[in-house]
Amino acid sequence: MQTRDIFIEFNKRDRDEIKSRWKNARMACDKWLTTTINENVKSNERALIIGAGGCLDFSLGDFVDKFQSVTLVDLDKKSMKEAVEELTEEQRGKILIVEDDITGIVETKINELRNVFVEMGVEKLCKEVEKFRDGIPTKFKNSKSLQVPKDSKYDFVFVNSITTQLFMPVFMIGVFSTDEIKDEYINKINHIGKTTNQRLLISLFRTIHSALNKGGVVAISSDTFEFNQNNSEYFLKNYGSLEIISIAYMKNEKLIKDLQKIQIIGGLPFVRDAINKANGFKLIEYIATWFWAFNEKQKYTVVGFSYKKN
Ligand SMILES: C[S@@+](CC[C@H](N)C(=O)[O-])C[C@H]1O[C@@H](n2cnc3c(N)ncnc32)[C@H](O)[C@@H]1O
Repeated sequence: MQTRDIFIEFNKRDRDEIKSRWKNARMACDKWLTTTINENVKSNERALIIGAGGCLDFSLGDFVDKFQSVTLVDLDKKSMKEAVEELTEEQRGKILIVEDDITGIVETKINELRNVFVEMGVEKLCKEVEKFRDGIPTKFKNSKSLQVPKDSKYDFVFVNSITTQLFMPVFMIGVFSTDEIKDEYINKINHIGKTTNQRLLISLFRTIHSALNKGGVVAISSDTFEFNQNNSEYFLKNYGSLEIISIAYMKNEKLIKDLQKIQIIGGLPFVRDAINKANGFKLIEYIATWFWAFNEKQKYTVVGFSYKKN
């Protein structure tokens, strides 16, 4: 199975069931997007949504109404098409669907690395990932939707819950899964995955910077803390419901400290660090947080925050 197929398989869902499960999260995300756009975006011509997928974690129609044209990009074309089919004719007329690996390098590389692992084992895999990480270009030149001509730059870019997916340890453990990887190499893999994800994020934000008009805004939603069977009980006992925790966490010092223990690679602090390294952005003060029950087992606090291009 190729990397793209893994995402397509992962995105396969009953849209109505997911819409109802994600209703509260979607409403919180919509509110954050609307406030961010209304208060910060000066020109509403062009918008780009990276990691649009099935567009189930925000309301695509409401988003499209705010802009003259909207580009959706994802590895999974089918899910984007399904989302667009639900819109009115006028809304559909404003949308461009781009099936692409936003980095232009990750998908091919993961496929290559899978072969390295199968043929040569985990040590060689680690070496090859390190080589890949150290050679990541400063900008993604092959990205179809981010390498735009001057007259079609974006006013708004929405990075839609994808920063935790850009080549994480979970890929090396999940995609190349064996017990050998899990036990013996876990610390090494964590380190390589984390640093590779970070290098990709820096390049991603540099590329987004070039694709934005001056004063343009990038908004990032990011699942940042993961609740699972092992940690939920502790948080429920100490702080009340996961919904309350997700909404209130920034106001409680002890909770902030406790949540750091269940922070996901590629979440808010990682993104903030990458954007600072990418240079040329100013943080917008308004930050929103909400609870997202992705499924019965995986539950997250999502953080929505944004930056303006200097
Ligand atoms: C967690 S999902 C976002 C949720 C999605 N907006 C929805 O409502 O279903 C992240 C998306 O990022 C996409 N993705 C992951 N890596 C990508 C890449 N390198 N380039 C483009 N899309 C990618 C996946 O296909 C997936 O649809």
